Amino acid sequence: MFESLPGFRDFPPETCAQRNHLFRVFRTVARAYNFSEYDAPVLEPLDLYVEKSGEEIVGQLFHFEDKGNRRVALRPELTPTLARMVASQANSLPKPIKWFNIGEHFRYERPQKGRGRSFFQFNADLLGETNPLADAELISLLVAIFHTLGLGPNDFKIRLSDRISWVHFLSDLGITDEQRPSVLDAIDKSERRKPEQTIESLEEVVPQKGEILFNQISEIKKIDSLDGIVDKLNSIGEEESKRAQDWLQLINFLKAHGAYECVKIDLSIVRGLAYYTGFVYEAFETTGEGRALAGGGRYDHLIKKLSGNIDMPAAGFAIGDMTLSDCLKSKGLLPNYVMSPDLYIISSVENTEFGISLISQCRKAGFSVSYSLKNAAFGKQFKEAGKSGARYGLILGEDEREKSEIKIKDFKSGKEKTVSQKSLIEELENLDEAGGID
Ligand code: HAM
Repeated sequence: MFESLPGFRDFPPETCAQRNHLFRVFRTVARAYNFSEYDAPVLEPLDLYVEKSGEEIVGQLFHFEDKGNRRVALRPELTPTLARMVASQANSLPKPIKWFNIGEHFRYERPQKGRGRSFFQFNADLLGETNPLADAELISLLVAIFHTLGLGPNDFKIRLSDRISWVHFLSDLGITDEQRPSVLDAIDKSERRKPEQTIESLEEVVPQKGEILFNQISEIKKIDSLDGIVDKLNSIGEEESKRAQDWLQLINFLKAHGAYECVKIDLSIVRGLAYYTGFVYEAFETTGEGRALAGGGRYDHLIKKLSGNIDMPAAGFAIGDMTLSDCLKSKGLLPNYVMSPDLYIISSVENTEFGISLISQCRKAGFSVSYSLKNAAFGKQFKEAGKSGARYGLILGEDEREKSEIKIKDFKSGKEKTVSQKSLIEELENLDEAGGID
């Protein structure tokens, strides 16, 4: 017997229906925000990720050499692909670009709760706009999706932070441009590590000063209010105060969207991916349980890095399906879809072919129809109809055939009605509206 590979999931119909429920909500809400759906290849040149996504993701790549000796990788995320696509048509695309995608991604991670080697993401990105209105639009979309799925402000929080503020705070602490990426990486990992490990990483960047820096960073991470951030930025200098204004604007826009009650300022978020340049955020269950439900932020330099000459600001986020499904399931918010036909046709053996022509008419009219594929006896077909969960049985015996009629049985009320075959579709549509035979 073969099993699926570690970290890969099968989706039997019930699970697939639940996944499709998420996808339906993603599509509906993204449309409401006027985002357009796009798609892209799952296999990309390996170099698209090296240096752009950051070490962590590169270490998790599924990659190989194809038969044409190209070094290729299954996409671990969509952002570099999107940047590549947009860069190639940058001049012809009307701005701002508001695109979304639902697709499968692959990372060679240790499989654990909420983490697999194959998972789906909903990605939404807004390109061509630097105004914090764009960041607010994205965060509001993220909040609206969670709300539509039934999650309220007590269920989840978007932890909001800012890379630019961190750049200012770290420069103020004497950290150079060269040292900064390693320090940010240590801050990102510090949530999952013991303090000694973080101090050790910081010590490698600023010898003899790891512990002092750790304490200074810990103090900054304690700032959890807008006033606190604004005061801190204003206290550093004029350039830094400009960022305080961006914070004030963003929070006002989030309030206007009605999204701010789901947002929590949290400077411990810096995001592991290398390309972020501005406001960044991650969504978590309020209990703090589980890995992130979603993550994103602004990445204003990635398109230039990939294209060499095109300057295009960008921001976006991705929601993962695994943590989100776990969260919804634990709160009873994942609907259990019953996959039953609308109609089950029960016919005598002599009527099989005529029955199929009626089935075909019903299907064309949009009903889901099932029937026995075994030429089974009447009684057995009734049993199968009951098991199928069909709402109505359509009974075609000799009598009905002779009179060009058909009997409709309402399996819910147990009542029956005989109608002419000609008017069957109309009768079924009327029943649909009336809610059954009484
Ligand atoms: P990310 O934080 O790496 O961001 O992933 C976003 C979400 O995808 C995570 O919060 C998580 O729900 C899910 N996810 C990531 N890795 C796994 C895994 N191994 N198993 C299950 N779920 C996982 C990005 O991918 C960015 N490209 C998002 C973005 C879009 N930034 C700008 N635009």
